[in-house]
Amino acid sequence: MPGKFALAFPILSLGLLVLATPLEQHEVAPGLIEDPLKGTSNPIPQLIKDILAGVKSAVANNAESKKPLICEDACCVWWNVSEKLTAEFRETTGECNDNARAAIRFGFHDAGSWDEKSTHGGADGSLMMDFGEIDRPENNGLQSIRTLLRSVQSTYNVSYADLAQYAHNHATVTCPRGPRLMVFVGRKDAKKAAPKGLLPDVHDSADNLIALFQRKGISTHDLAALLGAHSSAKQRFVDETKANFSLDTTPGVWDTKFYNDTLQDPKDRPTIFQLPSDKVLSVHSEVKDSWRSFIGQGKFWGEAYGKAYLRVSLLGVKNFNHLVDCTETLPLFRANATVP
Ligand code: HEM
Repeated sequence: MPGKFALAFPILSLGLLVLATPLEQHEVAPGLIEDPLKGTSNPIPQLIKDILAGVKSAVANNAESKKPLICEDACCVWWNVSEKLTAEFRETTGECNDNARAAIRFGFHDAGSWDEKSTHGGADGSLMMDFGEIDRPENNGLQSIRTLLRSVQSTYNVSYADLAQYAHNHATVTCPRGPRLMVFVGRKDAKKAAPKGLLPDVHDSADNLIALFQRKGISTHDLAALLGAHSSAKQRFVDETKANFSLDTTPGVWDTKFYNDTLQDPKDRPTIFQLPSDKVLSVHSEVKDSWRSFIGQGKFWGEAYGKAYLRVSLLGVKNFNHLVDCTETLPLFRANATVP
């Protein structure tokens, strides 16, 4: 019997290797979230585990949803929050606006202040609360969206932690072609400011940035996917002489142009601003294949972004059994700006 296994195992492994593409092979992340998820078999933690394992999708583009006439569940208030955010995040042209791009960055900066050694921080709303985090230089430019989100919080009395992540997911789908990412609520609000020094520095080396994200459980493939959020971005503080330059040619649309634009010679893209960090990561040996794989592949990128951002949106979260799926309250996916 052991002889048969000895023979079957290499054949089976070879078969799996053939099935897995090179990208899937280096997609594996250290799995910091998988640890607290172990041993929970309730439907939501199980769904999260399945998404992180690549068995299920984090993108709900095709799901229909309509606000119920009588609403009685934990998601009711989010229908109202969603209506308010649509009004704040969408231009009359149908594209997403400065509030939307700031909300996308805000969600990342709230959750991203965490690593494997942290005893607090992560997706806990601390950046929106009164702990002074907004005055840290790395959060420059997030003051207006914080004020807007705080007013939404006080009107609807939702948690700061959930609102920061809900606003991120709302903003991505508000951008035409942006994926409608599954959104879970039920996180606990912070009791103190997040640890310092855990957000990426735009002038850091690619090796340091990769290591920083790895300490959050984020692989190089996930990092390449996440940086695509700069498809919707502008800069104001890296080079103040080029304030409001966008990071790709179409900042109002969630598309893959950013990946190609970043690879070009800046002389050929005079109207955009290339962040030094994006530039060095896009050509790094551990990132470049993933980076190029997203060019012109919006659906593939959307799936990768959804999976990677789900991980970000749960950094530091431990109460997985209390999470509720409120994806139905998000606006519907729009393939272009003119769709209402
Ligand atoms: C290596 C990692 C990263 C670095 C060094 C970085 C750095 C920056 C910098 C310097 C800006 C411009 C800020 C300004 O001058 O106004 C910016 C903007 C932005 N970033 Fe990142 N970022 C990183 C990762 C991410 C991730 C993971 C996300 C989202 C998941 C994200 C979303 C955004 C967005 C949406 C903006 C535009 C904000 C606006 O226009 O108001 N970034 N980022």
